Order: sequence, then structure tokens, then C-alpha cells
Amino acid sequence: MRIGILTGGGDCPGLNATIRGIVTQGIKEGYEIIGFLDGWLGVLENRWERLTEEKVEDIHREGGTILHTSRTNPFKEERGLERIKDTLRKTEVDVLVAIGGDDTLGVAGKLYEEGFKTIGVPKTIDNDLSSTDYTFGFDTAVNIAVEAMDRVHTTAKSHRRVLVVEIMGRHAGWVTLEAGIGGGAHLILIPEVPFDIEEVCQTLIKRKDEGKSYSLVAVAEGAKAAKGSKFLSREVVKEEKTDAFGNILLGGIARVLEKEIAKRTGIEARSVTLGHLQRGGRPSAFDRFLATRFGIKAIELVKERKFGQMAALRGTEIISVPLKEAAGKTKHVPVELYQETGGLFWGK
Ligand code: F6P
Repeated sequence: MRIGILTGGGDCPGLNATIRGIVTQGIKEGYEIIGFLDGWLGVLENRWERLTEEKVEDIHREGGTILHTSRTNPFKEERGLERIKDTLRKTEVDVLVAIGGDDTLGVAGKLYEEGFKTIGVPKTIDNDLSSTDYTFGFDTAVNIAVEAMDRVHTTAKSHRRVLVVEIMGRHAGWVTLEAGIGGGAHLILIPEVPFDIEEVCQTLIKRKDEGKSYSLVAVAEGAKAAKGSKFLSREVVKEEKTDAFGNILLGGIARVLEKEIAKRTGIEARSVTLGHLQRGGRPSAFDRFLATRFGIKAIELVKERKFGQMAALRGTEIISVPLKEAAGKTKHVPVELYQETGGLFWGK
């Protein structure tokens, strides 16, 4: 049996650990593993390399992906399906294991419906995939954001400033909520709970009046003001164009808030955008463990011929769920969780 694997979409810490898990377990089962380069683009262009135990030895410690990645959507490419078929025939690949987020797994699900043998492994720092309690990459991203919050904490305090920290996560506020709580933010703004700028400013003024001379605001890149607000009628975007999956590139809200807060409150404000810092570098122990377990599960699914399935975490158990159910639904932060955790600190 020949298995082809690929990593697609935004990279995240833990990808190499999952590749190592698949290759090591796969070889043990007597399978041959090849890695397509640059996500779905490598499948379209028939670019790949053979993966051996030597090649994946020790890679679990490194961030990024040795297979590289892209946001290519084969269904948007000319003769996409045919080209995939051609490559799989030429390479004699029996099963494709796609490691990715919603977009990559969505393609794997569609290919399965078209008769291809596919299996999915979930990853993303955003943790916004339904059908799995956690994706790998998330824990590392939260830890990096907490470290950043700890650092801006002291400088905000010294200067008696408001510091606004922008955190990735697209349309879900998981990273911001966990990093905001862990990093001691005084206000946490997430996409799931549109904010009222007046309320934000009043909270900051009240803190100052109470003698708390500095404040930290954790804001998700996808946060937006409540409907009908004159300030920010939509999410702040870096550019208007969308990628091949229809995603818009978010970014810039911290800078907008910094200016607005300073203007409305008279308190000096600064902003920091964590951006890709959250996706780079070494994975946490949690992510290495989860990613490896997902990789091992992918091989188990191949062995049991359970195609069209994705490895997932339910509690502490690794299970499998149909790709069809897993992709296409964003897992949002429940409003109750936001209120329950944040309420303690800023009276929401
Ligand atoms: O999905 C992961 C993610 O890091 C999002 O949090 C972010 O909005 C997006 O990718 C950034 O994409 P890119 O790497 O293409 O700038």
C-alpha cells in the first residue's frame, strides 16, 4: 500500500510531529509513504518526495512543515480533479492523507465523495474545527500569546498605558479568550460577542478612576463592533481580496482600537499585532503529543479501510468522524463560556 500525505492551509506548530507519527507508524505497518509538496498544489503538479524514518527523525521538535504548504484549492484549478487522478495513477498512491484545517479537509471530503480514498488529520491554531475538541497548533499559539501578554504587561504598567494586543484566530475567538485569560487581559474582545466601543472606553476610564493606571486589551483579529455601531461597521481587513477558499485576510483592528481608545478616553494607548509569531517555532508538548496521536490514528484508519474519516479528539480519546461532518462548520466560542470566564475580571 502506498500512502500520499500533504499539509495544506496555514502552517502551525505540530505539523512535523504528525508527519513523523504517520511515517513511523505507516512504515511499521509495511506501507510506503510519500509526501506531496506545497499542499494540494504538489498533488496537481505531481511533486513529491519519499518519506523515510531517517527523514522524519527528530522533526517533531521543529515548527512549520517539512512538506511546505499552500492555500491551493484544486476545485478552483483548471482540470483540477483530472490532474489529481493523473498524479495518483502515476505515483500509484492508494490513499491520500490530508493534514489541514477546514479548507484542506473540505477538499479531502469532496474527493472522497468523488471516489478517492482520503483521510483527514485536523490542524489549526484557530481551534475552530467542529468535531474535534482540540486541533494541534492551538496550544502552542495560546502559549506564545500568553508570553507576549506577560511581556506587554510590564511595559503597559510602567507607562500607565492601555496596550491592545491583536491575536489571530480568524472568525473564532478561542486563542484570544484563552490567551486573554491566561495573560491577565482586562478586556477581551472576540468575534462571537460584538463589542460596544463606548462600553470598552468606559471600562478603561473606570479602571483608571479606581487607581488602576494601566490596562491590557486582548482583541481577536476578527472582532467587530455591535450591529448599528457607527464605529467599525465590519471586521478590519488587511486587504479586500479573498483566497481560493473565499477567506478574507483579517488584520489591523488593534491599531484602529488604539487610536479610538486614546481619542475617546484621553489615556495613552499602544498596540501590538502578534500575527505569524503565533504560528512559528517549536510546538508545545501538548501539541506534539496530540499531533503524534492523530498521525498514528490516520494509519489505523488506513489499516481498517475507514476512508472519508478524520482523526479527532473527544475528551482524552482519539476517535474518528466522517470528513463530511467535520468540514464546513466553524466551531465558535460559546457566549456562555465567554461570559462565565470573563465575568470574573471585567464584570461582563
Ligand atoms: O487559519 C490560521 C490563520 O493563522 C488565521 O488565524 C489567520 O487569519 C490566517 O491564518 C492568516 O493567513 P496567512 O498565513 O495566509 O496570512
